[in-house]
Amino acid sequence: MQETSPPPHQPNVPAVAPPAPSPSAPIGADEVALLIDDRPVVAKKGTTVLQAAENAGVLVPHYCYHPGLSIAGNCRMCLVEIEKMPKLQIACATPVAQGMAVRTGNDRVRDARAGIQEFLLINHPLDCPICDQAGECRLQAYEAAYGLGYSRFHEEKVHFPKRYDIGGKVVFDAERCIRCTRCIRFCDEVSQSHELALFQRGDHAIIGTFPGRPLDNPYSGCTVDVCPVGALTWKPFRFKARVWFLKNVPSVCVGCARGCNVDVATFRNRIHRLTPRANVDVNRYWMCDAGRQSYSPLYERPRFERPILRGGPGAVGPEEDTSSMDTGSLWDLALDRSADLLRGVAKAHGPKALAAIVSARLTVEDLYLAKRVLGELLGVPRMAVPPHEEGEDDHLLVRRDKTPNARGASALGIGAPSAGRVKEILEDAAAGNVRGLVVVGEDLTEFPGFSEALFQKLDVLVVIDWWQSPTADRAQVALPACGYGEFEGTVVNFQERVQRLRVGLDPRGEADPTWRILRDLGRRFGLPSEYATSRAVFDDVAAKVPAFAGLSYRALGDRGAPMPAGAARDAGASPPGA
Ligand code: SF4
Ligand code: SF4
Ligand code: FES
Repeated sequence: MQETSPPPHQPNVPAVAPPAPSPSAPIGADEVALLIDDRPVVAKKGTTVLQAAENAGVLVPHYCYHPGLSIAGNCRMCLVEIEKMPKLQIACATPVAQGMAVRTGNDRVRDARAGIQEFLLINHPLDCPICDQAGECRLQAYEAAYGLGYSRFHEEKVHFPKRYDIGGKVVFDAERCIRCTRCIRFCDEVSQSHELALFQRGDHAIIGTFPGRPLDNPYSGCTVDVCPVGALTWKPFRFKARVWFLKNVPSVCVGCARGCNVDVATFRNRIHRLTPRANVDVNRYWMCDAGRQSYSPLYERPRFERPILRGGPGAVGPEEDTSSMDTGSLWDLALDRSADLLRGVAKAHGPKALAAIVSARLTVEDLYLAKRVLGELLGVPRMAVPPHEEGEDDHLLVRRDKTPNARGASALGIGAPSAGRVKEILEDAAAGNVRGLVVVGEDLTEFPGFSEALFQKLDVLVVIDWWQSPTADRAQVALPACGYGEFEGTVVNFQERVQRLRVGLDPRGEADPTWRILRDLGRRFGLPSEYATSRAVFDDVAAKVPAFAGLSYRALGDRGAPMPAGAARDAGASPPGA
């Protein structure tokens, strides 16, 4: 049986075979022409038969080969027949040559694959029913496709430790391991942390760590991704969901300014895991452990599911009882109240008494509407973006900037994150010079310059956030926004690459995407009735902001696109209050 689609975690195989080149088409000086299963293929010199086959849409099964790692050639699953070579060759380590004729699926090759499968399964525990990898396991998939379907081995299997805590967040089951060494090569070549090695020989060979050196590098989760079987499992995901129930949504990690491409796996309206999605321009095949768990706050922090109203203008009083109100009326009341309170401050003290603090964790669409509604329509003269920096950039992916969209804020003309500007606003609020403050997606209590007196001095505090932060707890109007996975939009990473966040969850309670809350607030200040979707907001950004010119959701696709070369990065580079 020939597999018609690539197995999971095999991002480099095109799902649909590209058209075969014409036999008469000229080939370049750095190319060779060969036949793979009688199909003419042109490949770059130096590529391997396996890569050439994959590029042509021909699947060659493999365990130890991984496009992001060096070639080990130890599993022998990729054996193919090459004309004029007496023995079968491993496709992962054989370079293409002019005139080569390769067969990937004849009887000889299929017999060899069945033999490899039989050897691998001799000591395998076959505990698929309790294995997290079941459903996306190469051993399972290849056995179904190429295996004998029965066992001729009736002796006692070799036993190894199971559920071995190999460090950090990874659990090792040595009985499931097929000794492909992908995990070792990852630690040697990519994370460069060198924790893993292969000990012992023959059927006693076992992956292990050195004394006192557990597997706990910042990228340890990638060993779980590269493991083609269920030998390495990710503790936070163990036994949480069968993978065939998961819905994978292509999105982006928002843990730092890298914006690693990820699949957000959801089941029953809950995120169960993030796994890296291949994008050679951003994260190649990897992501860090912190990013892998960056969705956790969604389930750890308190959410508020309905708009909260407190007290009247000029005083933060107890929460009003709105339980009898329906959703539409409550949102209308909350937005009307926000608009009236902010207008009141502008009327009584002038627009200079207003300020806004907006987050670089918001999307381009959110920030664009924040600028339009708060800056242009309400006339808020000062808008600051707080920085969130931690540690240093590392050798691989992790960025010191822990926000996903600082470049987006700059490109929209709101300004780069600045602790000084935030501090200034907070101190002015505590001194009574700023009387009305809008906070979107931030918690003031985290910042230098914050003092409890600020809440007493402010006449009006309106907060839009996805969680019930200490700041939301002190707001006269707190508007519940969607959390990660509940909204769509775009972010701009540190390479100035614009990438899409996608929806995988229903919003919690009556939460709304931030851009829509700002749009509806904007309508109270005369924003025209446009922007039915975040896509429409982005189209307007692309039409009006040179740094986004020519981009669209369709053009961004699943892997994003760079901002146009030479575009003004700080278009309209006068942030309110600059
Ligand atoms: S633990 Fe997984 S990745 Fe590592 S050698 Fe075993 S099968 Fe390969
Ligand atoms: S490097 Fe940054 S963007 Fe990538 S996974 Fe880690 S936190 Fe997320
Ligand atoms: S993939 Fe070629 S030997 Fe393992």
